Amino acid sequence: MIYKSERINRVKGVLNLPGDKSISHRSVMFAAMAEGESLVKNCLRSEDLISTMNCFRSLGCDIDSSDETIKIVGKGLSGFTKPAKPLDCGNSGTTSRLITGVLAAQNFETTLIGDKSLSMRPMLRVVNPLKEMGALISTTESGTLPLTIYPVDNLKAIEYTLPVASAQVKSAILLSGLHLNERSCVIENERTRNHTEKMLGLDVEEYEGYRKIYSSVDNYPEPNNYLVPSDISSASFFIVLTLLLPDSELQIKNVSLNPTRTGLIKLLKQMGASIETLNHNESSGEEYGDLLVKSSKLKNVEIDPAIIANIIDEIPILSVAGLFADGPFAIKGAGELRHKESDRINALCENYKLLGVSVSEFNDGFCLDGKVSNQEHLLDSYGDHRIAMTFGILGALFDESTQINNFECLSISNPDFLNQLKSIAH
Ligand code: S3P
Repeated sequence: MIYKSERINRVKGVLNLPGDKSISHRSVMFAAMAEGESLVKNCLRSEDLISTMNCFRSLGCDIDSSDETIKIVGKGLSGFTKPAKPLDCGNSGTTSRLITGVLAAQNFETTLIGDKSLSMRPMLRVVNPLKEMGALISTTESGTLPLTIYPVDNLKAIEYTLPVASAQVKSAILLSGLHLNERSCVIENERTRNHTEKMLGLDVEEYEGYRKIYSSVDNYPEPNNYLVPSDISSASFFIVLTLLLPDSELQIKNVSLNPTRTGLIKLLKQMGASIETLNHNESSGEEYGDLLVKSSKLKNVEIDPAIIANIIDEIPILSVAGLFADGPFAIKGAGELRHKESDRINALCENYKLLGVSVSEFNDGFCLDGKVSNQEHLLDSYGDHRIAMTFGILGALFDESTQINNFECLSISNPDFLNQLKSIAH
């Protein structure tokens, strides 16, 4: 579907957004692993979550998603059964990486497949450390899906320092470690999102500049009632829109405020944004609260590369804030963006060039200068939900319509995006 944006003059109101994608994936997975019945409230229902639910259904779990609260009857430490066909992870990197850690410890063979985009994304980052643990896994020659995971009976605990700042790699190792008596240890030098360790209650040791995270069978999940806070990455699109429109004010309810995810808010505040957090709360170790966002005059600031892992999914929409802020917008140290649902550095740069913005593209980032001067061209979502929504928001700032192809890909993370946008537009 080609989306034709419509101008929004100002934003007013209150938004309730669906559950956080990372926490929803983990809630479903941990509930499926635990023996007995768990409930997941405010779970995201997007294509990525459907992929995770279907994978665990194929492994023998009973997942009832017909009501508002999802009911999952998990299988316990050795209760999963061999799926009849390859598990389809769709577009979801989190599904494929995390489930690989779980499957490496099962006593049956499984094959993982995914869509075109996922089948191009690097899997060796999880396969290599799992092989160090003794797992037997085959990939394509280029280290991508399809991936076959064979049963082994000699999996062992490891200590592993992450070579890339990736919560998915960290989680895959820790989830595999949940099946072993000895403790496995993951060392991260850059702080990545910590939902896995928080939700499983793992031991974390903090040192100067790094942390060690441990898992063993003692941490294997038990049935639980999960309450998923709303997704801060989905909220980020509406935060930036509100900041950039005049006379606007938006409250976003019950948003995840886990400090490993709030880098965008911190950065936008440094840029001059008016964003208040209200009603701080906590559930299953995860912090959440309301955000009150008001129109603001922004100026670009230097972005510390140490914050990149914390804002990695928000960089596309951050670039829109940067484009409208005073001074040029530059981001570096963000090479991981090339390995997301699309090569996001290239996707952003190509679309900004079509819009007439002056762009410099680097291996690990890009720089934007100047203004949008041409909205004639059809922009490409590259089939990437965050690219589609980024330019959907940008389009709402102009009288003339912006057109974006393959816009339906937004249902990967937020199928209701356009209704949410409509509900706050004035
Ligand atoms: C995620 C981790 C991040 C993020 C992705 C979700 C997770 O990926 O980009 O959207 O839920 O663990 P990486 O681990 O590849 O950085």
